[in-house]
Amino acid sequence: MHRDSFLLMHSFIIFFVLSISSLATAQQRYLNVSRGSSLTPTKTSSWLSKSSLYAFGFYQRGNGYSVGVFLVGIPEKTVVWTANRDDPPVSANSTLLFTAVEGKLVLQTAQSPDTYIADISQTVSYASMLDTGNFVLCNSDGGIMWQSFAHPTDTLLPTQRLAAGMQLISSASKTDQSSGTFVLYLQTDGNLVQYPKDAQTIEYAYWESMTTELGGKVSLTLGEDGNLYLVNATGFNVRNITGKVYATQGSIYLLRIDWDGLFRLYSHNLGPDSSWSVLWNSTADGCAPRGLCGLNSFCVSNDLKPGCNCLPGFAPVIQGNWTSGCERNFTTQSCKKKGKKYSIRAEDYTIWEDDSYSVLSQTSKEDCSKACLDDCNCEAALYKDSTCTKQRLPLRYGRRSSQNGLIAFIKVEDTSESSTDMFLHTREGKKEIIKDIIIIIIIIISCLFVSSLFVIVVILVVVNHRYRVSSYRRTCHNGDIEFCEDIAPRSYSYAELERMTDDQSLLEDQVILEEWVHRCFEDGELGQLVGDEEVEPKQLERIIKVALWCILEEPSLRPSMKKVLLMLEGTVDIPRPPSPTFFISTI
Ligand SMILES: *[C@@H]1O[C@H](CO)[C@@H](O)[C@H](O)[C@H]1NC(C)=O
Ligand SMILES: *[C@@H]1O[C@H](CO)[C@@H](O)[C@H](O)[C@H]1NC(C)=O
Ligand SMILES: *[C@@H]1O[C@H](CO)[C@@H](O)[C@H](O)[C@H]1NC(C)=O
Ligand SMILES: *[C@@H]1O[C@H](CO)[C@@H](O)[C@H](O)[C@H]1NC(C)=O
Ligand SMILES: *[C@@H]1O[C@H](CO)[C@@H](O)[C@H](O)[C@H]1NC(C)=O
Ligand SMILES: *[C@@H]1O[C@H](CO)[C@@H](O)[C@H](O)[C@H]1NC(C)=O
Ligand SMILES: *[C@@H]1O[C@H](CO)[C@@H](O)[C@H](O)[C@H]1NC(C)=O
Repeated sequence: MHRDSFLLMHSFIIFFVLSISSLATAQQRYLNVSRGSSLTPTKTSSWLSKSSLYAFGFYQRGNGYSVGVFLVGIPEKTVVWTANRDDPPVSANSTLLFTAVEGKLVLQTAQSPDTYIADISQTVSYASMLDTGNFVLCNSDGGIMWQSFAHPTDTLLPTQRLAAGMQLISSASKTDQSSGTFVLYLQTDGNLVQYPKDAQTIEYAYWESMTTELGGKVSLTLGEDGNLYLVNATGFNVRNITGKVYATQGSIYLLRIDWDGLFRLYSHNLGPDSSWSVLWNSTADGCAPRGLCGLNSFCVSNDLKPGCNCLPGFAPVIQGNWTSGCERNFTTQSCKKKGKKYSIRAEDYTIWEDDSYSVLSQTSKEDCSKACLDDCNCEAALYKDSTCTKQRLPLRYGRRSSQNGLIAFIKVEDTSESSTDMFLHTREGKKEIIKDIIIIIIIIISCLFVSSLFVIVVILVVVNHRYRVSSYRRTCHNGDIEFCEDIAPRSYSYAELERMTDDQSLLEDQVILEEWVHRCFEDGELGQLVGDEEVEPKQLERIIKVALWCILEEPSLRPSMKKVLLMLEGTVDIPRPPSPTFFISTI
């Protein structure tokens, strides 16, 4: 395979080859690898392609090594294919042998029996790492007997085709190439669909190309110009997936279904000092992939970046590992042995897979909560559109939703000694609010000409907020759901402020502060508020917008605490706040 573009790439790459000349002792450039050759992780570890862009051989994975194909012509070594990806990594003592007689590729280790890289019975004459990233085994006529392109893992390279009936499976993590949670499946009906790996039916699909009419003879392919499209049996482009072409020279592209479930098109410039950039992704909603957050946890998106929260009363199985999910931190209720006390906690604005054993229609939230509490078999209940569905754990595929009136009621053991504390621990969202409020305060204090009056106002507002948040918690713990709703944060009336500070100028200062913040916001110059402080601009804008809504004089215009929570998280859009002066001037 010989292409002009690769000659050009070659010249770009010489730089790298020179700069990694120490590595070159461990990598040999074989165009045709002959039988009887071998590789080891520490001595000759890989066979390079002609342009030295790709290599086949051992790469480091955790404390050991795996065999695969990786990009070496760029500063950031990138694995694009792994042989037997779910086998554990092997030790430095291992050998990859290209047998002299039959031409089989055998991985020999001290710990386990020999494993074969390619599953073929015919005799192989030579092997070759091609410049496309395809590792091939050929017969004596040069015919390809086996190729890595036909056994993709999580990555598709330019000119590689994913045939109907085949799927890409995400890796477990950025550094662990074993099979992860998500698949990109080109179905035999022509539809390209993303599923959780263990639930491949249409109700669990979280992305699809909607191309069923194309039928089963299509393949997915990535062009050398970075265009991703479906071709029919005769190789014609019948449907664009990305529909965008890029430079064909000096850049490389790859398509990968990432560990987080999104599939993305990446490009990498072959010049020095460059890195991977994302050109396209299947969805902007990081919480879309079902199962990103494991059992009994739910996905919360923060500026489109997903995160996972446990159900109230639950704790992560493995800290920092989202897919491991959460487990209850209490004993389950027994229908036989009475004695333990249970109560219901609510998680609003969440949506789950409904797998109910009992459905109550036309009920209120209170009745739903009570129905679960009174049923020794009920571990949770989902409330939606006046319907209550009783559930058993684990709850699956949870995520925050901006839709109104979706509530998950969770039955937890009553540990009376520190229940309010536990509530604080489990309601991550509330902690976030307090954190954000503190950020607002710090920003305001740090950037203002620090007038002591402002500090007082600010502290009062914090105290007020804290009081509100903690009383919210208390009412929730009492199990009175109606009370938990829609308590708007409030600001101070003039009289209250006057009473508290005995200072006539306080209100004026507050007005000036609010006007100034609003003006900065209107002018798009929020940077002024923080000075040299390093603050994430989107986060800052969100906080300021929420703050401007919360300080409105008219209480009915202020968002509820729940809304504030969703706004700060980035789950719902924050409308443009009106000017505070209008309302203040009317008092
Ligand atoms: C590698 O092989 C050497 C000699 O055969 C042995 O001493 C050593 O323990 C082996 N190391 C591992 C990690 O298996
Ligand atoms: C590799 O081997 C094949 C078949 O023997 C031959 O046609 C081809 O020219 C060889 N390639 C190189 C670069 O030696
Ligand atoms: C592929 O598409 C081209 C152009 O639309 C068409 O001419 C050709 O007949 C199609 N091939 C098959 C096998 O459907
Ligand atoms: C696919 O996209 C390319 C580039 O935008 C365009 O030239 C081509 O006509 C499109 N093909 C189809 C089948 O839509
Ligand atoms: C993903 O795509 C959306 C548009 O579909 C875009 O808004 C977002 O920035 C993209 N994310 C990344 C990481 O490229
Ligand atoms: C997370 O936990 C699961 C088991 O629940 C495990 O299979 C997976 O490897 C873990 N992932 C990481 C990155 O540790
Ligand atoms: C439950 O969690 C609390 C704090 O979150 C902890 O102190 C307690 O030990 C946990 N109980 C069990 C049974 O794990």
